[in-house]
Amino acid sequence: MTGKTAHPGILRSDALRKYILETSVYPREHELLKELTKASFENYKAASFMGLPQDEAQFLSMFLKLINAKKTLEIGVFTGYSLLVTALALPEDGKVIAIDPDREAYEVGLPYIQKAGVEHKIEFIQSEAVPVLEKLLSNEKEAGTFDFVFIDADKENYLKYHEIVLKLVKVGGVIGYDNTLWFGTVALSEDDPMPEGLRALRGHVMKVNSFLATDPRVEVAQLSIGDGLTLCRRLS
Ligand SMILES: C[S@@+](CC[C@H](N)C(=O)[O-])C[C@H]1O[C@@H](n2cnc3c(N)ncnc32)[C@H](O)[C@@H]1O
Repeated sequence: MTGKTAHPGILRSDALRKYILETSVYPREHELLKELTKASFENYKAASFMGLPQDEAQFLSMFLKLINAKKTLEIGVFTGYSLLVTALALPEDGKVIAIDPDREAYEVGLPYIQKAGVEHKIEFIQSEAVPVLEKLLSNEKEAGTFDFVFIDADKENYLKYHEIVLKLVKVGGVIGYDNTLWFGTVALSEDDPMPEGLRALRGHVMKVNSFLATDPRVEVAQLSIGDGLTLCRRLS
């Protein structure tokens, strides 16, 4: 553990989450990921929970290797936990384009990315995602070439991102949508008590889930890891 308590995630048993993290995750977590988490907590306190939960990150790392990902895209960087995980998992000549309007947060994690020797794999673009995605799509050298796209940003725009990244990812490539279980609130009814911050975006997340579930262009697997991760494999 480094400076913060375990990510709340979707698992409703603290003891089980602690068991998973302490047994299989923390002992294998890269030292610089631990240091980045600590720096993130020091700078952002409770908001550092925006960083990817460590067990989900461990899965993401193995998944990227299993699909031999070489070229990836990330929307929503924050202090760079998932970005460092990705850069460590990619081969030496791999590349990840990472988009976030918040450069300040990225710079909190940057020293750890540099220390890990993987900065050369990263192209950080300080911007809202849509204009960057549209520019990439207009370049025929980029369209249909990404092995993996990870989306962990503004939930209101997930469906907009879906339409664009579906054309950026190659056929057989995968898009990962984070937070699709929205701390369990997707299964509550409107009258149930829940934090107002979660209530505000819950409808967007539910709409995304319903849309993806019936989108014939992708194969879908919704995983109850972290706060819910939906993988969409482009079919054609
Ligand atoms: C949950 S955090 C990302 C966490 C990150 N993946 C990690 O593992 O630390 C969400 C991020 O999305 C970014 N974001 C919000 N709106 C965005 C947009 N329109 N385009 C790109 N990024 C956006 C925020 O600035 C924030 O840093």
